[in-house]
Amino acid sequence: MRNLDEHTVTQAVVDLLSGTPDPRLKLILVRLITHLHNFAREVELTEEELLEAILFLTATGQKCSDKRQEFILLSDVLGLSMLTVAMNNKKPEGCTESTVFGPFHVEGAPVYDNGADIANGAVGEPCLVRGTVKDRNGVPIAGAELEVWQADAEGNYDVQYPDLKTHQARGVLRSRPDGSFEFRTVVAVAYPIPVDGPVGDLLRATGRHPWRPAHLHFMIKAKQYQTLVTHVFRNGDQYLDSDAVFGVRQTLVADWIRQPDGGYTLNYDFVLNPAD
Ligand code: BEZ
Ligand code: FE
Repeated sequence: MRNLDEHTVTQAVVDLLSGTPDPRLKLILVRLITHLHNFAREVELTEEELLEAILFLTATGQKCSDKRQEFILLSDVLGLSMLTVAMNNKKPEGCTESTVFGPFHVEGAPVYDNGADIANGAVGEPCLVRGTVKDRNGVPIAGAELEVWQADAEGNYDVQYPDLKTHQARGVLRSRPDGSFEFRTVVAVAYPIPVDGPVGDLLRATGRHPWRPAHLHFMIKAKQYQTLVTHVFRNGDQYLDSDAVFGVRQTLVADWIRQPDGGYTLNYDFVLNPAD
């Protein structure tokens, strides 16, 4: 392994990986190195540019904390999260589509009864959300666990307020025996993803905006069904066609209906895919 040059170094690295006992890890590493080296050759990567990339990734790691995951954000804005979601969640026609998880889910959200106000003090216009959880044959799924989280009228999730000690605009409910669920919250608004870190620098350097269209996050779990991680997006939002993280699917867009006596209602029915 001497005198390696730009043409022979790739094979030398690949050869060294041939002893990797885990076949999946071996495949991933071999293909990653091959693509990475080909990429470097294709763009004729300079030493300064490699150092710049290393400093960018270093800053991305340094921005991470127990409240902030800058690498997830990076994967999101590069479309890698949505690509992986799309490849791994192909479902039969009629099932609710999946989309990105995002960085604002937290463990331990409060459990509520149907009809409760999950806003718990979050600012925003009132909104009543109703729907059902069913299978593809229209059979209600009772006792499904629905976890909901969303931003408030300022475009912030509760975890983005450093001094807030309670959970706001997030909660866990269970579907009723007829598959229905219902809760009160505030109207979701469009918001920018965090831009005070390296991902923000990347967006600025590439002339991209950071906005996500208004949405509610749902994670729905039921025995014998695949867990569904998805959003419901607000129809008419100006960012539906330019979501900073590429998450919008037309089947997930719904109307928030203004009520004559104030507030909004949203109805959305979820269809789960059997686990096998
Ligand atoms: C979110 O919707 O919460 C989100 C998703 C991806 C990146 C940033 C935020
Ligand atoms: Fe979100």
